[in-house]
Amino acid sequence: MPLSILGVAGSLRAGSYNRALLEAAIELSPPTLEIRPFDRLREFPLYDADLEARGVPEPVESFKTALRQADGLLIATPEYNHSIPGVLKNAIDWASRPAGKAAFRGKPVGILGATPGAGATIRGQLALRQALDGEAYLMPSPEVLIAKAGERFDAAGRLTDEVTRRFLAAFLDAFVRWVERFRTG
Ligand code: FNR
Repeated sequence: MPLSILGVAGSLRAGSYNRALLEAAIELSPPTLEIRPFDRLREFPLYDADLEARGVPEPVESFKTALRQADGLLIATPEYNHSIPGVLKNAIDWASRPAGKAAFRGKPVGILGATPGAGATIRGQLALRQALDGEAYLMPSPEVLIAKAGERFDAAGRLTDEVTRRFLAAFLDAFVRWVERFRTG
């Protein structure tokens, strides 16, 4: 059985580089890794403890269930204002409840990020690590930090840069080994 990984892109944009990066990860995955994208973050209401007390909304519940069932989580995130997009933080906030029972608790996590700018999402990825730290097992390295994304993806969103493709493939091999450390089933 391949490892079952939930894939999340932290951008809602149709032409998102990070969604395209997640697609490239799916394309380059070894047979031992199956990445299933979760595409419903836009359906999540803003986290509200009162709303949660009335019942967790169905799109959020499906995310939490998919997370609990997965062997690991792969997140491709943009950097917004030196942090992560609110849409991704909102999903993490929902999935982190109830306290001590986060849906990502004990899950191995891999992080990817792409930006058209020069900063390579370094600060965004650090912010993501900070949000998940203490609950999830964050793969420390290698780090996929993609700057100048416009030069590495074509107009259709395909990752065309060969060096980046090879690096992403090496990251995925390392991610398999990381996830296997924590596999329970
Ligand atoms: C950005 N962008 C950006 N880029 C970056 O490298 N560092 C940053 O701090 C920010 N901040 C930021 C804030 C907001 C509100 C927006 C909309 C954008 C640019 C960002 O990297 C660019 O829009 C990417 O294309 C977003 O990722 P997707 O949608 O292509 O995946």
